[in-house]
Amino acid sequence: MQTQLQTYQTRVNRALETLFKQLSEQQPNTSTRLIEATQYATLNKGKRLRPALVYAMGEALQIPLCQLDTAACAIELIHSYSLVHDDLPAMDNDELRRGQPTCHIQYDEATAILVGDAQQTLAFQILSDDPFVSDAHKIQLIQKLSRASGLGGMIGGQMIDMQSEGLLPDLSHLKAMHLMKTGALIKAALLMGACQSQEYAKLANHITTFGDAIGLAFQVQDDILDIESDTQTLGKPQGSDLQANKSTYPKLLGLDSAKRYRDELIAEALQTLQKMDLNTTFLKGLTRYIVQRKH
Ligand code: IPE
Ligand code: IPE
Ligand code: MG
Ligand code: MG
Ligand code: MG
Repeated sequence: MQTQLQTYQTRVNRALETLFKQLSEQQPNTSTRLIEATQYATLNKGKRLRPALVYAMGEALQIPLCQLDTAACAIELIHSYSLVHDDLPAMDNDELRRGQPTCHIQYDEATAILVGDAQQTLAFQILSDDPFVSDAHKIQLIQKLSRASGLGGMIGGQMIDMQSEGLLPDLSHLKAMHLMKTGALIKAALLMGACQSQEYAKLANHITTFGDAIGLAFQVQDDILDIESDTQTLGKPQGSDLQANKSTYPKLLGLDSAKRYRDELIAEALQTLQKMDLNTTFLKGLTRYIVQRKH
């Protein structure tokens, strides 16, 4: 599992590096500081889980990797932008991300806002420019990514997160928030990996159920790690949720029940994978990694 994950991480990192090299050459009038800051917030030690999900789902359906590279880069750009903005003083106000100073600390707030904007637009630019994907599939990819990252997905979830600070919402509210702010992009990674396959229509329901389960479990584990891990291991400040009085599963249920809930979600995800008549060995490993991970 680890070797396969590393292969995907290396592949998306190379593709992102090539993309930034091309951008620097093609856009000589763009501020060097802005390009540098955008690279700083993208080409770093992210786990690249979402690109790995794009590749793994696509490969399980025999889609060539070259037809998945742009989707993998685009979803990582959107995710990285969500982190740059999530860390801003007006949001979670954090100073460490992926083991390095957050973008607004390393540069400044205005630059960090523009970096997030640039990462977001670049994601859609590269999807629309991709020479390896048909026009019909490009539209599907753009549709899936924009829906998952927009008002009804990540951004909508981030707003609920901000509005829930200091409150003790009920479980269904918390579930909706987690599914939107984190689950939507994780599910989109799988759907983007799969949508170029002829089998897509047949599998979309299972992929959606699987994506919701691992997406939710991923954020529950993120909330658990905020309590149980340490800043060095996390590469981001431990205790950030407590300090901001965030609404999290451990806060609502207690740590033990949050862990049980996470494990139930993982069991549900593994059962759903079994219903798909595909080679899902790596996806199974990745599902278990979501709960075993320490950062
Ligand atoms: C962190 O995501 C933010 C959440 C949605 C929980 P990751 O844990 O995937 O962060 P990176 O990309 O590895 O830094
Ligand atoms: C972030 O949730 C979800 C995003 C859409 C970025 P968190 O605020 O818990 O993520 P971390 O813990 O800062 O990575
Ligand atoms: Mg946040
Ligand atoms: Mg945060
Ligand atoms: Mg968190």
